[in-house]
Amino acid sequence: MSKPFIKIEKLSKQFETSNSTIQVLKDINLNLDSGKIIAITGPSGSGKSTFLHLLALLDKPTKGKISILGQSINNLSEYNKNKMIRDNISIIFQNNNLLSDFTAIENVAMPLIIRNKNYNYSIKQAEKFLKKVNLGKRLKHFPSDLSGGEQQRVAIARSLISETKIILADEPTGNLDYKNSIEVFSYFLKLKQKNKIIIIATHNRELANKADYTLSLSNGIIKRENG
Ligand SMILES: Nc1ncnc2c1ncn2[C@@H]1O[C@H](COP(=O)(O)OP(=O)(O)O)[C@@H](O)[C@H]1O
Ligand SMILES: [Mg+2]
Repeated sequence: MSKPFIKIEKLSKQFETSNSTIQVLKDINLNLDSGKIIAITGPSGSGKSTFLHLLALLDKPTKGKISILGQSINNLSEYNKNKMIRDNISIIFQNNNLLSDFTAIENVAMPLIIRNKNYNYSIKQAEKFLKKVNLGKRLKHFPSDLSGGEQQRVAIARSLISETKIILADEPTGNLDYKNSIEVFSYFLKLKQKNKIIIIATHNRELANKADYTLSLSNGIIKRENG
């Protein structure tokens, strides 16, 4: 048997605040394989974003271990951590995190530019990916001149351009209307055929049902549903 793409062992996360401890994830064990779309559902505050941030190496577990492609990510040096992120991980944030001083096309080109790709090539690629999310007519718009849904589609194009193996999406269709949600999701479906692993936190039941399976998060425990 080949190694799981992502292996999670006894993962726990708690937050300390001035007067209490919030236990968000408790002793989670999971193997996640590539070529799958996995939905994460759960009520607001159940820890979906926390879980995605741990997988994206943006935060550290309180206890337990995450391995990506057989490599433990717990004790990576700063250099190796950044390399792991650059080579393998894209995240679409709940609040899209676009750079307000850059146009749509520049925002999307950014992951390539910071990977030292040629500028003109990066811009060409950005145009291609913006067209895939139906924003071919918004290339030179600044984020503030785009609707919430359009901004989210720019963020999605930006996460796709670096062609990483792991794509984490935190409620990516939260601001989109029905038609755009279905369209964006169909793009995630294409990615899965490229043997990527796509993990999507969502409140949208219909989209969750289109995933290969759902991880439902409640009281710190993750249960696998359907499949
Ligand atoms: N940095 C933090 N410090 C303290 N509490 C936090 C922090 N981040 C998240 N939490 C708490 O952890 C719980 C899970 O939050 P979150 O992962 O954002 O949930 P979800 O994405 O499912 O809505 C919430 O109760 C939230 O208030
Ligand atoms: Mg969240």
